[in-house]
Amino acid sequence: MKKGVFHRIFPPPKFLQMRTAGLDISDHSIRYVNLIGARNGFKIASFGARRVPDGTIESGEVKDIDGLVKAFNGLKADLGTAFVNVSLPEERAYIVKLRTPRLKRAEIRTGLDLQLSEHVPLSSSEAVFDYDLLGNQNKKRRGYLDVALSVMPRSSVEKYLAFLSRIKLLPMAFEIEAQATARAVIPKGDQGTFMIVDLGETRTGISVVEREVVVLSSSVNIGGQLITVSIQKALSVSFEEAERIKIEKGLTGGKQDDRLFPAIMSVVAALRDEIGKHFMYWHTHKDQDGESHPPIEKIILCGGNAPMHGLGDYLSSGLSMEAELANVMVNIRSLDEYIPDINFNESLRYATAIGLALRDIS
Ligand SMILES: Nc1ncnc2c1ncn2[C@@H]1O[C@H](COP(=O)(O)OP(=O)(O)OP(=O)(O)O)[C@@H](O)[C@H]1O
Ligand SMILES: [Mg+2]
Repeated sequence: MKKGVFHRIFPPPKFLQMRTAGLDISDHSIRYVNLIGARNGFKIASFGARRVPDGTIESGEVKDIDGLVKAFNGLKADLGTAFVNVSLPEERAYIVKLRTPRLKRAEIRTGLDLQLSEHVPLSSSEAVFDYDLLGNQNKKRRGYLDVALSVMPRSSVEKYLAFLSRIKLLPMAFEIEAQATARAVIPKGDQGTFMIVDLGETRTGISVVEREVVVLSSSVNIGGQLITVSIQKALSVSFEEAERIKIEKGLTGGKQDDRLFPAIMSVVAALRDEIGKHFMYWHTHKDQDGESHPPIEKIILCGGNAPMHGLGDYLSSGLSMEAELANVMVNIRSLDEYIPDINFNESLRYATAIGLALRDIS
């Protein structure tokens, strides 16, 4: 692997770019999305998910390549293409917002490489990194560029590469999960500041997006499975039934059963506190020039637990900030009458895969 670069390993010829699938790999599932061009936009041509065998990926680290290869040997046939943009887990990633002198692209990369170990607990040889320039640079200080640096341990990325190569997939780009998600849920061109909360199965991703670039990202080990198990115990129902109750009744179903609200609240209150901490951090810490960060305008919720009934309202009132469900189709604009095959709640689990599929083509 080329030193210090984790994207554009095989620069795709233009004509192939449309056939690059988005591939979101988590501890529990692999999800993919294929987009095709439509009048003035895109359509979802195909999408799907497969369960990742327990223990093969743990906290974003590939633990059992053979197990993964056995489970996903047919994935290339499902995708209909060998070319994929792949997400890397937030748990392993470091994202740092920096200001650099206004240099040429190649010089920025060299400069960042030299100062890498000042910002993350990895040396240049142990790390692979990429960077994004925040939007609207000209209107800000002319001598500087605002940059978001993303860094991953090289050993983690190499394990993903080895797995993908064994199932004959060619990664065009690797990208930190939060950045791909942001590309799907923030309307293209919107220069605002938003918090994205991705409520998964065993973890919740919390990130801040400023001028279309993720500048803060972290992951907390609180996920929807904890809520389901808590409901399962409190109401003595099956896991499947608890899953249904969680999404459909959620925080507003307590009137029918007064054991439900406390069961859910025991987990969701901890989650709200974690989100609140990140919120406070963003608003109280200054940037490297001693300036305040732009205020967060709203919280955007995605992931499989986002549609839990009453969750958005609870977070909104607890954090005094609008919290709304993501529209993962916002950048898949097409002038054709197009109703995607995916239902709204399910679409919230595909935000990352959609963002990856939109990379380089939107
Ligand atoms: N059809 C479904 N299959 C599985 N889970 C579903 C489904 N519909 C909703 N869910 C909910 O989605 C949650 C999983 O969310 P998501 O798919 O975003 O997680 P993940 O990205 O696979 O995992 P993680 O982010 O923890 O690594 C589960 O807790 C479950 O409650
Ligand atoms: Mg997830």
